[in-house]
Amino acid sequence: MHVSSNLSVQRTACLVLVALSCLFTPAISVKYENFKTCDQAGFCKRNRQYADRAVAAGSSWDVPYQISPDTLSWKNGLLQGTILKTINEDGETVRLPITISFLESGSARVVIDEEKRQKGEIGLRHNSKAKKQRYNEAESWAIVGGLAPSTTATEERDAKKSVVKYGKDGQFEAVITFTPFGIDFKRGAITEVKLNDRGLLNVEHWRPKTDKLEPEKKGGEEETPVLEVPAQEDESTWWDESFGGSTDSKPRGPESVGLDITFPGYSHVYGIPEHSGPLSLKETRATEGNYQDPYRLYNADVFEYIIDSPMTLYGAIPFMQAHRKDSTVGVFWLNAAETWIDVIKEKEAHNPLSLGIGSKTDTKTHWFSESGLVDVFVFLGPTPKDVTKAYGELTGYTQLPQEFAIAYHQCRWNYNTDEDVKDVDRKMSKHQIPYDVIWLDIEYTHEKEYFTWDPLNFPNPTGMLAQLDQSERKLVAIIDPHIKNTNNYHIVDELKKKGLAVHNKDGNIYEGWCWPGSSHWIDCFNPAAITWWKSLFQYSAFKGSADNLFIWNDMNEPSVFNGPETTMPKDNLHYGDWEHRDVHNINGMTFHNATYQALLSRKKGEHKRPFVLTRSFYSGSQRLGAMWTGDNEAKWDHLAAAFPMILNLGIAGYPFAGADVGGFFGNPEKELLTRWYQAGAFYPFFRGHAHIDTRRREPYLAGEPYTGIISRALRLRYSLLPVWYTAFHIASVDGTPIIRPHFFEYPSDETGFATDDQFFIGSTGLLVHPVVTEGAESVEMYIPDTEVYYDYFDYKGYEGKGVHTIEAPLDKTPLLMQGGHIIPRKDRPRRSSGLMKFDPYTIVIVLSIAGTATGELYVDDGDSFDYESGAYIHRSFDFENGVLESKNIGVKGKLTDKYLKTMKNVGVEKIIVVGAPLEWKEKTTVKVGKTEASVEYHAGEPDKAPWFLVKKPKIAIGEDWKIEI
Ligand code: GLC
Repeated sequence: MHVSSNLSVQRTACLVLVALSCLFTPAISVKYENFKTCDQAGFCKRNRQYADRAVAAGSSWDVPYQISPDTLSWKNGLLQGTILKTINEDGETVRLPITISFLESGSARVVIDEEKRQKGEIGLRHNSKAKKQRYNEAESWAIVGGLAPSTTATEERDAKKSVVKYGKDGQFEAVITFTPFGIDFKRGAITEVKLNDRGLLNVEHWRPKTDKLEPEKKGGEEETPVLEVPAQEDESTWWDESFGGSTDSKPRGPESVGLDITFPGYSHVYGIPEHSGPLSLKETRATEGNYQDPYRLYNADVFEYIIDSPMTLYGAIPFMQAHRKDSTVGVFWLNAAETWIDVIKEKEAHNPLSLGIGSKTDTKTHWFSESGLVDVFVFLGPTPKDVTKAYGELTGYTQLPQEFAIAYHQCRWNYNTDEDVKDVDRKMSKHQIPYDVIWLDIEYTHEKEYFTWDPLNFPNPTGMLAQLDQSERKLVAIIDPHIKNTNNYHIVDELKKKGLAVHNKDGNIYEGWCWPGSSHWIDCFNPAAITWWKSLFQYSAFKGSADNLFIWNDMNEPSVFNGPETTMPKDNLHYGDWEHRDVHNINGMTFHNATYQALLSRKKGEHKRPFVLTRSFYSGSQRLGAMWTGDNEAKWDHLAAAFPMILNLGIAGYPFAGADVGGFFGNPEKELLTRWYQAGAFYPFFRGHAHIDTRRREPYLAGEPYTGIISRALRLRYSLLPVWYTAFHIASVDGTPIIRPHFFEYPSDETGFATDDQFFIGSTGLLVHPVVTEGAESVEMYIPDTEVYYDYFDYKGYEGKGVHTIEAPLDKTPLLMQGGHIIPRKDRPRRSSGLMKFDPYTIVIVLSIAGTATGELYVDDGDSFDYESGAYIHRSFDFENGVLESKNIGVKGKLTDKYLKTMKNVGVEKIIVVGAPLEWKEKTTVKVGKTEASVEYHAGEPDKAPWFLVKKPKIAIGEDWKIEI
């Protein structure tokens, strides 16, 4: 949230309004005028105009970019050369070095730079101190691996093109055409991705701002300067640009980069979060029922954001997947500047030469960024899993969080005192409502000075943390990147003295407004700033902190209340003299990174996994912790909007995501609050949160039947923690999303390609369709195959591909178990996940039609990095021919045996077989290794499956065993 005017006035007004706002839900909606439309962003307008000119010219469009073949060289998987951009009718050219890398992983990368700028041979206006190069350090923040060049790729060249074969068994091919420049990427014989097919490549080369004389000199007057502009080009946005009262000095003039990327035969594209809209991206450019503007990526504190919009939000991941039946490809546009993406879907004209079997639609995308390089990675799949994995090899996989972090978080703006926190903690226990973490928003500080506690309201943080620790609960406190500009605050003094703040265009410390009023911003691009930040989190430095205190980083877009578009001026300067313009979308990640590093090093030898929640993010943030979708509203449509957002984040490599449960702004009706908890229990990051002006809404306040229903939703989350943790483990090693959309699990089933109101949890076959509409009593649930599905709660069976009506009274979340899976649970209700650590498991076997089932379980200590040395349990469960077998699928490491010892008493208390065959009815015992366990057969009620119970089989979760039924 931001306020744009005087904060203290706002705060006083807030307090007065608290009572009133409890009575009314204020009409809230985004302030459109605070944010640019494409037409108001010079380079967006220019690139769209460029595209319009290309379309108008049709086949006579003269693409001014060509590779000069004599510059080309091929070595070790790299094709290097120069693109010549013709800039006028005299044939004058600008040299653009290009490197196309073919990577061992099977991905390809195309980088286009500008020679003059590489060499620093340009002039900057306004005496700017900014760097002359195009920003080339996005890679150092976003990429952590996967760049090894291919050792097997081969190149063949003739006068017109170069053909590179690469990827496993040479299955991929890149055809690089010289005139005009373009690249077709093929898998087998089929072209899957085309770069510059529509001729929209646009590298706005540096040019001096020259003035020419008016033809006639007016007698005695000064000459009026007029700009020299190539025919057809609109120069009005080349130089200084103003918006909302701020002027951007643009010392380098126009410098945007743009490129069209076409996916022939693909009608669905996903990804490029963060936007609030459907999983399968809509078209832009105002085609009917679609968006007018392109999808925008320019991290911003979009106050009261609206849903179903391509407007930018808090984070940016410029990664897109395109999907058609049985084929997925992807692109990653590695650029940290403001970026827009147009999406158009075009029915293919019948083309007898087209090999796209059954494909009818092309998705044509157009990407443009305000500055920086053209730097694009191409992934050729062929499965969604391959694409997410390849992207994760580059940007890293999601952090394996501490186990508490995937349990329930209780937050609001604000818990008012340390006694208030302790009271909520006691009441949650009293009402037997599990939770792991309670949160403190900005009011805990002494006058918004981070690393301090309000001495009146939080006199005893240590006592508060100690009470929480008794139930293995944690505290998360907010620390934002703005540092209050005030006297007698040692943090701001150090920031200034050490020169670690962001600077303005003149090289002075930048000052703007945020929660504390006048503030400065730590510049976490600076390694020295990270070192300093780390020192502030030492237990000895951050008085009142303890090892069950974790951190929330908010406002890191950065949010600046009086800045252009609520953020920093683009001509601000960061470490290395990079303009803010160049690095904006990475800014939030650098702060998140600094805090992550700080928690890692709070105390020598502590070695615990950090937990840091971020609002702003970029490709790579997934390595650092969770994100949430910011300031939503307590409305049904916001509840519905969250899942498509979280699904998109998951397929863009950032699965540890959630939305504020209950809605941030406004007071949810009890039904909405209840449904939101039921839905939130399926967010990878599950936190209730509320604005300072809202009524208190801790679950025990709702009253019956709501409190009971919410408690059961929370217990469901807790009992499925083994499933969630295993899904996080999988995501942390191969990037597979934690909640998975239909297209991801059923890449051949076209009916599900746009489905985003139901999804699978990990690889467990759990299929959930949360209720997101008021007064619903049932949902229409889509079953994608011919397997049998059972209701999670009463084992009612559903069979047949297609839509089924599932009852959904208020106390029920539609949740099905697909036949063929084995689901590990922990069913003993506890106050927190920490207290469940050594609890026994329940194993649910959901038999397939064929009578088989498989599953897996990953367990570790849930907090340290010992799992990296083998301190974990990873089992596969298989049920076939009446035998259930648990096998180790982990790799033994230095700490495996030691860890297994700590787990030797953790067993399985029951095994439930859903869909048990009738012939088991007579059984009284089953064989468990050399011993026996007693069993019960439960005949199902009409239309409900019979189930079979194995009682206390006396087996340890970490060991090999067999049960014969
Ligand atoms: C921002 C955050 C919100 C938080 C508030 C106060 O609006 O998005 O979650 O409560 O700031 O810190």
